[in-house]
Amino acid sequence: MSLIGRNVQKAAELLRRGQLVAIPTETVYGLGANALDNRAVLSIFETKNRPTFDPLIVHADSLESLAPYILNLPWQARSLAEAFWPGPLTLVLPKGPLIADLVTSGLPSVAVRVPNHPLTLELLKVLGFPLAAPSANPFGYISPTTATHVAAQLGKAIPYILDGGECQVGIESTIVSFEGGKPTVLRLGGLPLEAIESVVGEVSTTLHSSSNPQAPGMLKSHYAPRKPLYLGSREQVLAQLAFPDRGGLFFQDSPELDGLSNSLVLSPSGDLREAAHHLFGYLRQLDALPIRSIWAEKLPERDLGRAINDRLFRASVR
Ligand code: TXA
Ligand code: MG
Repeated sequence: MSLIGRNVQKAAELLRRGQLVAIPTETVYGLGANALDNRAVLSIFETKNRPTFDPLIVHADSLESLAPYILNLPWQARSLAEAFWPGPLTLVLPKGPLIADLVTSGLPSVAVRVPNHPLTLELLKVLGFPLAAPSANPFGYISPTTATHVAAQLGKAIPYILDGGECQVGIESTIVSFEGGKPTVLRLGGLPLEAIESVVGEVSTTLHSSSNPQAPGMLKSHYAPRKPLYLGSREQVLAQLAFPDRGGLFFQDSPELDGLSNSLVLSPSGDLREAAHHLFGYLRQLDALPIRSIWAEKLPERDLGRAINDRLFRASVR
């Protein structure tokens, strides 16, 4: 079993030796390895059972620390980095030669981000090299938002989990690329589209990537619990809950939900941030209940609601 603790020096020592360490971020926990060491990066793919055609995100403590690893920085990328880093935003930029090829699955671009978590920022400063880190879950399963979630699935496979508490944002970063000189959102995430557009104007989105192998994390089926999950309107979900073997996931509280068993409410007051914060933990809780299927209510398509709906949609049976 892996050790769980808050010892940054211990995490740094293991990473310097080419080992894996789970790291906390504001979005979800990552499974980190030295991004300059192809062998260390290979063990990420092996441990997660992740196909090597699905590239990883490189994490550093600042935009300046990333400079040696990228060939250039489009002005929109610089504006977004200055506005939102450290934070839940990943930028896809032209890759320099130092980053291990396996990190980018051979692509000429590299995804980079400065995460907003004090322990991981301290770790990245101590290390002096960037960390490649996908979410610390087996490929395809729900992303972890606590150290305990990481231990439950990958505990046997990794030596150390740096425990930074619950992830504040709770869903993965928003990914933006700049190919063709235009910002394009490849994955909705913890930074709302509205926030991005307030800095660089209107952006386009290219999300469903069975037709877009360049963003395979956007595989159609992803983030899924083991039990089948269905997405519908509040009325449809309520109707299903007449059957005792079904669980429900609702956005906000209302009198019809009183006394319902096997049901969780993402944010009683209807706050999208709180809903995102609870999403993955609640899906895990529902997955562990003695029910046969999970029925989730679709959220409003604005702000973080868009990213939450995207995760629910990818997790669902269609
Ligand atoms: O919030 C997050 O982004 C978390 C934390 C740990 O930072 N990480 C995360 O990593 O969600 P992962 O591996 O689960 O998702 C990374 C996504 C994948 O969808 C991958 O396809 C995309 O980033 N990606 C990585 N490099 C890319 C590139 N060069 N071009 C396009 N997409 C890329
Ligand atoms: Mg992931």
